[in-house]
Amino acid sequence: MYNSRITGLGKYLPETVVTNDDLSKMMDTNDAWIQERTGIKERRWIKQGSDDTSAIMGAKASEIAIERAGIDKDDIDFIVFATMTPDYYFPGCGVQIQDLLGLKNVGAIDIRNQCSGFIYALSVADQFIKTGMYKNVLVVGAEYHSNGLDKSTRGRGVTVIFGDGAGACIVSREEDNSKGILSTHLHSEGKYADKLIVEAPSIRHWVPEIMEAGEDDLSYFPHMDGTFVFKHAVVRFSEVIMEGLMKNGLQKDDIDMLIPHQANLRIAQFIQKKFGLSDDQVFNNIMKYGNTTAASVIIALTEAWEEGKVKEGDNVVLAAFGSGFTWGSAIIKW
Ligand code: UT7
Repeated sequence: MYNSRITGLGKYLPETVVTNDDLSKMMDTNDAWIQERTGIKERRWIKQGSDDTSAIMGAKASEIAIERAGIDKDDIDFIVFATMTPDYYFPGCGVQIQDLLGLKNVGAIDIRNQCSGFIYALSVADQFIKTGMYKNVLVVGAEYHSNGLDKSTRGRGVTVIFGDGAGACIVSREEDNSKGILSTHLHSEGKYADKLIVEAPSIRHWVPEIMEAGEDDLSYFPHMDGTFVFKHAVVRFSEVIMEGLMKNGLQKDDIDMLIPHQANLRIAQFIQKKFGLSDDQVFNNIMKYGNTTAASVIIALTEAWEEGKVKEGDNVVLAAFGSGFTWGSAIIKW
């Protein structure tokens, strides 16, 4: 059994900043409500007319991760791409990355696990490295939400939360057994699928059906029962972090850095309090980027590392919860 380690990190955020005041010009919302309920001050949205998409942003983040890992792109053995906003219904973004980066004809899969997508993707890469099948796996999380949101007052409960962006990392075989990804923990509860969902277009609700329903049909915009999701999130986040700590014989006090999925600053603060962590033991950047779903954990991890907040020897905990429901954690000795 081999060990696996994150050897390179990269992120890409579109340039256009959309503030809460900008949103209040599109819909009935305001800066005070958004900041108080979510902690978000601004987010990035891809500018209309820009070439950026989930795959293209993912490729830009990947180039940085590959360079920082100090490997050649020909050393990449496999691609795992997590997104809930793929460029196309099919094929997935993973194959686009293979082409955009000019990689060898390596395998590529897409992970459809929304906010937990990056944790799931990391877990897949981790297994491929640990079994010895691959030496370097490119893991990408990228989202292009802004083109698919309801920007009228109707959609304000969801639209103010989501942002665009991408992150990527290289997971590599590590000879030193004292560091790397210690374990990952994945869960799902499909009976709550309708609590956070985009129903159409889908094979069940194809284009003619949407067009016939006309203006009143909202099925092609994200729907979220926010309060219900919030209540489940705080419970599942806590459970899955504890599960990861226990698996590795660690205590709450052993956490050096917790990087939660950036869903809502109030969720992160609840978890911080529950685990008795100080402000410098939890990394949040939702204030700047909003919720970038499958990209959020990897963007946050990259930024924490760039700011010197993730150091060699640290116990780093990643955790996420979201649509599905799905949730997961990863425990890493950096
Ligand atoms: O990332 C995947 C997982 N996602 C999450 O974990 C998200 C979890 N949920 C949440 O973060 C929160 O539930 C939200 C931020 C989405 C909503 O916050 P809330 O405190 O649960 O508010 P609410 O949905 O109960 O809405 C309260 C009020 C409502 O008005 P009334 O019925 O009390 O008159 C809403 O219509 O706030 C109104 N409202 C808004 N007002 C101004 C909803 N959205 C907005 C808005 N601006 N953008």
